[in-house]
Amino acid sequence: KIIILDFGSQYTQLIARRVRELNVYCEIHPFNHLPEIDEYVKGFILSGSPSSVRQADAPQIDFQQFHGKLPLLGVCYGAQYIAQHSGGEVTPSEIREYGRANLLFVNQESALLKGIPLDSQVWMSHGDTIKHVPEGFEIIASTDKVQVAAYHIKGSQTYGIQFHPEVTHSLDGKALIENFVLNICGCSQDWTPDTFIETTINELRTKLQNDHVILALSGGVDSSVAAILLHQAIGKNLHCIFVDNGLLRKNEFEQVLDSYKHMGLNIKGIDARERFYGQLAGIADPERKRKIIGGAFIEVFDEAAHEVQKELPEGIEVKWLGQGTIYPDVIESISVKGPSATIKSHHNVGGLPDFMKLKVVEPLNTLFKDEVRRVGAALGIDPLILGRHPFPGPGLGIRILGDVTAEKVSILQQADDIYIRNLRESGWYNKVWQAGAIFLPVQSVGVMGDERTYEYVIALRAVGSLDGMTADWIHLPYELLAKISNEIINHVKGINRVVYDISSKPPATIEWE
Ligand code: XMP
Repeated sequence: KIIILDFGSQYTQLIARRVRELNVYCEIHPFNHLPEIDEYVKGFILSGSPSSVRQADAPQIDFQQFHGKLPLLGVCYGAQYIAQHSGGEVTPSEIREYGRANLLFVNQESALLKGIPLDSQVWMSHGDTIKHVPEGFEIIASTDKVQVAAYHIKGSQTYGIQFHPEVTHSLDGKALIENFVLNICGCSQDWTPDTFIETTINELRTKLQNDHVILALSGGVDSSVAAILLHQAIGKNLHCIFVDNGLLRKNEFEQVLDSYKHMGLNIKGIDARERFYGQLAGIADPERKRKIIGGAFIEVFDEAAHEVQKELPEGIEVKWLGQGTIYPDVIESISVKGPSATIKSHHNVGGLPDFMKLKVVEPLNTLFKDEVRRVGAALGIDPLILGRHPFPGPGLGIRILGDVTAEKVSILQQADDIYIRNLRESGWYNKVWQAGAIFLPVQSVGVMGDERTYEYVIALRAVGSLDGMTADWIHLPYELLAKISNEIINHVKGINRVVYDISSKPPATIEWE
């Protein structure tokens, strides 16, 4: 495997993605928590950073632990760090270099740059530059502005590059990373869905033995894939719980429960709609709604966990809580920058209930989202589940602005169902990252037949995004929007107006609450 030491660059995850795309396993670790270096570690990559190596408080590592012993690639800050700590000189660039540049000199004899053509486009993003490299360094690439665009320490397997090979604007970046990971580090390309499934199932069996595990399914990709992996490892000792909080999409509870049963899962469906509506009654503030929904979920899940326990024979206890946590969540929680500032309290829940005392098992915590989908496909999970848009935990609760009632939920479910069905039928569903209808509690005047109406508004939202952090609204065809709008207004009682949300994130968020 490759170890990526993170100095806080916005691109660190992309480095990991590029390595994984080569079917090579890698891990990201914060620069100040060097992992144990065992025989599986084949090389190191040092990331970029928002800091400057010239700052007194610049991130420092003890790189002598692996420098010279294992192949090492420094990217941007990483390259400057190695150069500076080997006796080179790093100075502020005259102008902050940001954007495309071309390699005017490339040493194609270098193992790192084999196959990289002259003039290759690279992506720069730096405020410092390596002014002088120390003795023993050879410059292996330059651009017109940056003499030391890439270097190699002679007689070693240490390289530094000023540009960012991990971003797609570096057109030959993939080849460069491949040269490093496969040729220089000699990694084998055995990180595939099938080997992941095989080793994970074996590890789960060893770890869990005959223990019982409880897991909450959400209908989403991550919890489904986690459940199937656990199911294949321990069968009926996995107890799944799927809660109807009354804020799911139309018919979702029945459909999802059904497909889980088909997959052979040992699953309990719990209708808790009344409890959620009861607790939400009259509450309009989005953050309070989120807390209530999170809190009610924990109550229901806690009770269900006790039920499961009661049904087990004397002396046998549920010991584990299964979760569908994926790698980006893990990276975020250990990140150099710390968990990002709370704009919406996505994971904010009430006090700790009993089941939190369980040990946690997270079979997907090394996978990126698209890897989860590939593993899911290899496990034979229904493409309809694997291809689902993200859906927030509080569900329609935060797509009904203001207070939530069963009646509003029903109106929104019908409108959303028409919207999503049309997206599927027109082929747009898979081109959109996330789509949904929003209920606006404002009434406006309309006319139907000879009658004046005074009814609510539905807003439609469809965005493209990579990770939900930024998003653009999707330019759905007018004809499709017209068809959806007609169907909603003609079929959903209580709605006489449909609008389309044309705001990007930032400054708007994806959800309206
Ligand atoms: P925003 O609205 O912050 O949404 O642009 C970004 C992504 O997060 C989802 N989201 C949530 N997910 N609980 C969740 O599990 C929440 O409270 C929540 N709020 C937003 C949203 O659907 C989008 O995918």
